[in-house]
Amino acid sequence: MRLSFLGTGYLGATYAACFAELGYDVLGYDVDEAKISRLAAGEAPFHEPGLDDLLRRNLAAGRLRFTTSMDEVAGFADVHFICVGTPQRPDGMSADLTYVESVVTALAPRLTRRALIVGKSTVPVGTAAWVEQLVAKHADPGLGIEVAWSPEFLQEGFAVDDVLRPSRIVVGTHSEWAREQLHAAHKGVFDLAATEDRDVPVVVTDFATAELVKVAANAFLATKISFINAMAEVCEVAGGDVTLLARAIGYDRRIGNRFLQAGLGFGGGCLPKDIRAFQARAQELGAGEALRFLHEVDLINMRRRGRALTLAAELLNRPVGPAGADLSGTTIAVLGVTFKPNSDDVRDAPSLAVASALAAAGADVRVYDPQGMPNARQEQPFLTYAPSLTACVTDVSLVVVATEWAEFRNADPVLLGDLVAARLVIDGRNCLDPAQWHRAGWTYRGMGRPPL
Ligand code: UDX
Repeated sequence: MRLSFLGTGYLGATYAACFAELGYDVLGYDVDEAKISRLAAGEAPFHEPGLDDLLRRNLAAGRLRFTTSMDEVAGFADVHFICVGTPQRPDGMSADLTYVESVVTALAPRLTRRALIVGKSTVPVGTAAWVEQLVAKHADPGLGIEVAWSPEFLQEGFAVDDVLRPSRIVVGTHSEWAREQLHAAHKGVFDLAATEDRDVPVVVTDFATAELVKVAANAFLATKISFINAMAEVCEVAGGDVTLLARAIGYDRRIGNRFLQAGLGFGGGCLPKDIRAFQARAQELGAGEALRFLHEVDLINMRRRGRALTLAAELLNRPVGPAGADLSGTTIAVLGVTFKPNSDDVRDAPSLAVASALAAAGADVRVYDPQGMPNARQEQPFLTYAPSLTACVTDVSLVVVATEWAEFRNADPVLLGDLVAARLVIDGRNCLDPAQWHRAGWTYRGMGRPPL
């Protein structure tokens, strides 16, 4: 069976490489020629552990190719996966479906034999039915082209494993034929699971449920993070420690300890835009009230960024007036610009937002990140980019740890203490050992934790 993946961003490029690894003949498609040439040379255009190896191995084996030609895609594959981005629209909260529309309307009229088009992109509920209408309008009706929806749940930083060893496969289909095609297209995943003595649960649904599963899962994760960040806000005024609180409630297996890490909150290309698009769609459908809590989830999340600013002003003894904090004349090191470690993704990153807010408040802000600097420089060119952790903190009056990279978690506070102008640290991810930093002479402030 031959598979195509339309759109070679985080999702499509990872899927293409992983499914080639599983033994399928795979063609990856994108309109971006620069991206396609990099992928064809065996280099992922973003940082994802393990992906470059997979690309090179499968390109060399001849199972994986990349193209910018939709004619080639249409002639090649039996199952086409839509993996294009669905970003937040610039004029509102809903998702922009332009890229979905353009790949479907480019592919459908070029098909010359029966094929299945499977949506993987995160979309507003109702999109699969609309794609089906687009296909009916643009494809030869005699071919029997069908549509299915199968959301993905990959986490950046763990994407390769998430694709090869998914926690579940969800398929929204309208026919037995489509289910059989999808089963065949995932046989490699099931076979791998069998050799590792694992099960991959399959949930077969209608279109609407398949689309909703993805946004519901992301809404739940975002809510869990904002819940613990709301507890952090209460801890801050009541004198509690949210890290201990999270540990204590997490032992209850009904609650669980994952996604209970209080800090600067969630960012990235998925959670923020997905909870907004979900609210917008529910509103359109007349169920806006049901998701009103997601507005609160968003607000709690954004308030954490503001908290980092207030803490900085407090530690630096700077006044906070009606226009916010005045940090002029201070030099601050922000460690981390990506939305989480092991990624170079700076989309909606709380770390980068805090760095630019500190700069807007007048501070001279220097940043350093093990992987995210090129992307951050494009988004925030006015910040100062330091070549290393030590260069970043030298002579600064405050250090803000904004992304929990291992390089920062394992940094030696004694060594860093000799470089800075003042030993003041904000642990925006509660990822440092406060006692160790305190012993090294630092004034430590975490998120939702009392001062030592
Ligand atoms: C997310 C979902 O996890 C994934 O299933 C979906 O397919 C895409 O969206 P991802 O965007 O890669 O994946 O990031 P994730 O690991 O979920 O983290 C999102 C954000 O939440 C990060 O900014 C992270 O720092 C933050 N986070 C996560 C917390 O602040 N606290 C936590 O406890 C967990």
